[in-house]
Amino acid sequence: MRTTVGIIGGGPAGLLLARLLHRAGMDCVVLESRERRYVEARQRAGILEQGTVDVLRKCGAGARMDREGLLHRGIELRFEGRAHRIDFPALTDGRSVMVYAQTEVVKDLVALQLADGPPLLFGAEVLAVEDPDSATPTIRFRHEGREGREGREQTLSCDFVAGCDGFHGVARRAIPAERTAVFERDYPYSWLGVLADVPPSCEELIYARHRRGFALHSMRSPQVSRLYLQVPAGTDPADWSDERIWDELSARFAVDGDWALERGPITAKSVTPMRSYVQEPMRHGRLFLAGDAAHIVPPTGAKGLNLAVTDVVTLARALTLHHETGSTELLDSYSETCLRRVWQAERFSAFMTDTLHPHPDRTPFEERLQLAQLERIAASPAASAELAENYVGLPLS
Ligand code: APR
Ligand code: PHB
Repeated sequence: MRTTVGIIGGGPAGLLLARLLHRAGMDCVVLESRERRYVEARQRAGILEQGTVDVLRKCGAGARMDREGLLHRGIELRFEGRAHRIDFPALTDGRSVMVYAQTEVVKDLVALQLADGPPLLFGAEVLAVEDPDSATPTIRFRHEGREGREGREQTLSCDFVAGCDGFHGVARRAIPAERTAVFERDYPYSWLGVLADVPPSCEELIYARHRRGFALHSMRSPQVSRLYLQVPAGTDPADWSDERIWDELSARFAVDGDWALERGPITAKSVTPMRSYVQEPMRHGRLFLAGDAAHIVPPTGAKGLNLAVTDVVTLARALTLHHETGSTELLDSYSETCLRRVWQAERFSAFMTDTLHPHPDRTPFEERLQLAQLERIAASPAASAELAENYVGLPLS
């Protein structure tokens, strides 16, 4: 098999890149190790920056998002029993965000790709990227036979390879260790996330900092709530009964006044570790990394999906310029361009995480600083604007 751009991974990064290249008249093949059912059921985050919404619309993947997505013009911060609203349009140049689950974005992109896009192979596990710094890199993969029969090993020769295979993928490993630098930080806590069949108890997301731990109230639709609790790293979700989850959420969201958290049946429960990670550079020869394959942010700033989108927009632009004119200018600056934005998102995500999560190793002094930071955001339009600008998304450079 041969193609211009071999794309490893059919998550949001790989699928959107395929869409953008297809629209620019370039051919590509997407290899995804999992089955379609699995990819479409995976629960991930759900906040789209304005720029992400614009890209999805422009590439024809915005129809259902525009019907079912919820426009959010702010978030609420809760701490010390008080609520403070961050008004996005007032604090930025009129920008806001869309609540629309990543799972739904993936379903929309898969449907488009299968309808009229370039090939998308499910059950195609990439084993290695070979000769990434030669003129014709090769992807070695195994494609599952029908009914799960042991697949055949195959190769895909490419002009370029896009490593969009997430944090546990193989693309990153094709870059020699001596050519890469890794920057990372682990957090001593995780998030226990639940989906519940109950209308959200709020109109906008609530980020709550409580002595007992952080809690987040998000949503998937007017009927479905998405909630998170800070728990110690290594927590087993089975240790948390539904009743214990609701009691803990109610305690952490407690606020002066008569607000109450509505309860309902919990339909999914999982624990997500928190991590900050960047691998530099994001390019080696003709291999380009995008999305979680190159960087991870803790979910507190809702930046993971949006960063993956800006990476592939940048990559699609660079590949298109090369395709149309032969110029490698944008390919050569790809890593640097992406990393500037990646580090801003890393900074913001670490800031949101540090500011909102209490943890036992903190000194009382650090705890007071955390509260003073939140007080400052609540009191100062400048401090609120700093949060709002980052949350709605910095402009694409
Ligand atoms: N071969 C083929 N596919 C692979 C391989 C492999 N060896 N390894 C991983 N994959 C696939 C995974 O099954 C997954 O579908 O690559 C895809 C990577 O998708 P994501 O992990 O969703 O990463 P990405 O597309 O970069 O999306 C960015 O934003 O909200 C965050 O972390 C969240 O997934 C999200 C991300
Ligand atoms: C979500 O809805 O899953 C969500 C929202 C905001 C975040 C993280 C996750 O910061």
